[in-house]
Amino acid sequence: MCGIVGYIGHRETAKVLIEGLKRLEYRGYDSAGIAIFHQGKVEIRRKEGKLSKLEELIGGETFDGKVGIGHTRWATHGRPSDENAHPHKAGRVAVVHNGIIENYLSLKEILKSKGHVFTSETDTEIISHLIDEFAQEGYSPLEAVRIALDQIKGSYALGILFEGDEECLIAARKESPLVIGLGDKEYFIASDVPPVLPYTRDFIFMDDGEVALLSSKGVKVFNTKGEEVSKEPKRVNWNSLMAEKGGYKHFMLKEIFEQPRAVIDTIRGRLSKEKGDAVLEGVRFAPTVLENMRRINLIACGTSYHAALVGKFLIEAFCRIPVDADIGSEFRYRNPIIGKNDLFVAISQSGETADTLAALREARRKGATTLAICNVVESSLAREADHVIYTHAGPEIGVASTKTFSTQLVILFLLALRMGRALGVLSCEGGKTLIEELVRIPHLMEEMLKTSSQVAKIARKYLQARDFLYLGRGINYPIALEGALKLKEISYVHAEGYPAGEMKHGPIALIDREMPVVVLATQNDVYEKVISNIEEVKAREGKIIALASTSDREIVQKVDDVIFIPETLPSLTPILLTIPLQLLAYYTADFKGTDVDQPRNLAKSVTVE
Ligand code: AGP
Repeated sequence: MCGIVGYIGHRETAKVLIEGLKRLEYRGYDSAGIAIFHQGKVEIRRKEGKLSKLEELIGGETFDGKVGIGHTRWATHGRPSDENAHPHKAGRVAVVHNGIIENYLSLKEILKSKGHVFTSETDTEIISHLIDEFAQEGYSPLEAVRIALDQIKGSYALGILFEGDEECLIAARKESPLVIGLGDKEYFIASDVPPVLPYTRDFIFMDDGEVALLSSKGVKVFNTKGEEVSKEPKRVNWNSLMAEKGGYKHFMLKEIFEQPRAVIDTIRGRLSKEKGDAVLEGVRFAPTVLENMRRINLIACGTSYHAALVGKFLIEAFCRIPVDADIGSEFRYRNPIIGKNDLFVAISQSGETADTLAALREARRKGATTLAICNVVESSLAREADHVIYTHAGPEIGVASTKTFSTQLVILFLLALRMGRALGVLSCEGGKTLIEELVRIPHLMEEMLKTSSQVAKIARKYLQARDFLYLGRGINYPIALEGALKLKEISYVHAEGYPAGEMKHGPIALIDREMPVVVLATQNDVYEKVISNIEEVKAREGKIIALASTSDREIVQKVDDVIFIPETLPSLTPILLTIPLQLLAYYTADFKGTDVDQPRNLAKSVTVE
């Protein structure tokens, strides 16, 4: 939610900020703005709408300053408008903010009584006023920020400028992500690494409560007590090209096509073929943890939650341990029963999803062993969990998750394999069979991508449909949910994912000749039952798009359209099924002309509750 950038250095500052914001637009895009020095003054340009509107506003204007901050917004407090767009400036102080200030109303009243006048409906504006209040009392910029932050309750990543001090860019972080890029006599702040990748791959990852002072001479980081701390820079192995479209019309399409590569990168170095086992460098459970493990909780939101649902099937099948899959925002509010003999696995692309993070904290508080499955290195989730496994999907810019989903499925498969072997439930031979099939998956994914033009035709055929139903059973059911979510979020077509056997208890009432029903009908132990469900839909004149195993030629007679899925183990089939469903959503959205990479009302990383 919201992206912030900041820069101090020798380049054209406005350009660095705008280019940086373009790489953060996935975090929010209902308004954007920059604050930048020009002839000693802090100039602000901000505009409702996408970043292109801000670019139009700036036009050919130039600024001579070498320091600036920028923001792309996903509204929480106050509707999208020019006035509510960041940066917010009070007195000498300009601020960009990602997060939520919980006590902003009471602080606003206090500040108003001291004569401060507010011009926006945002919670952020109080930050600039509060800091300015202390700066006016004679505190240095760093002190003024620290004292102000002491009074603020909530979450923030902040970039702060002080008019009259061009050698000062202040950054602060609490519960919202913020990284510092270390270039050659130039320094950057950003909500995520992609904006900084064109300039450097060396980063400092700020911790909660830290405040940083960036000047042309370098970066100093201070802890909550105001003591300078030494932070080890880390090198990120993503490069700047990875965050570009590379000739594809949309990031989403590029990321769909990157999936075989992403899976190869995720598997690399993690298989022991001789032992029929997985090697998970980030997981070193003490033997007692495995011995005593009674239950596993998989927690996530959105698409990552669908991966968790698949994970439940995998872990229960390979390890014979009961698994609960739960939604991050629900978990902690029901006083969950979780204890020190439980394993808690949080799954998140960004590693910054507020609900997933809060659930992890609750599980830690209750003594569970915690494991994070993340894509973003050094994200909050990765740093707070006891153990971490990274999906090596590379940066995902499209708001709709694609390659991070398939790599999450792969990691869950590897985790289930590792634990199944460690617990002695899976034999070495059993493990070897699983590995042999897993290494074929990237090749089979390539085969699935070849269905792209066929899927585009199907999307065109059903373009006028107002509703879709997605049906699956067993381990394919979560993929039905994921297919429906993809369609909803980027094409704005209503879609429901449903367990096929449950259809007769309600959704069957929706079926008529206008209703396309996507049925996941690959060969497995519930295949015959899915065929019965197809007959039920047919009897009500529903239109059926089936995803069926390549060998199943008979199904052609029973359905309207069929996409064939190469044969593999039922436990790996979800990875293959996902691809045509992603493509179906993509082409439907593209033909409708929606904004595929930045669908309305959404943000990639939901860092608020
Ligand atoms: C997926 O397409 C969505 N963008 C969304 O549901 C997402 O999966 C969810 O917000 C969780 O994000 P995370 O994986 O970064 O935690």
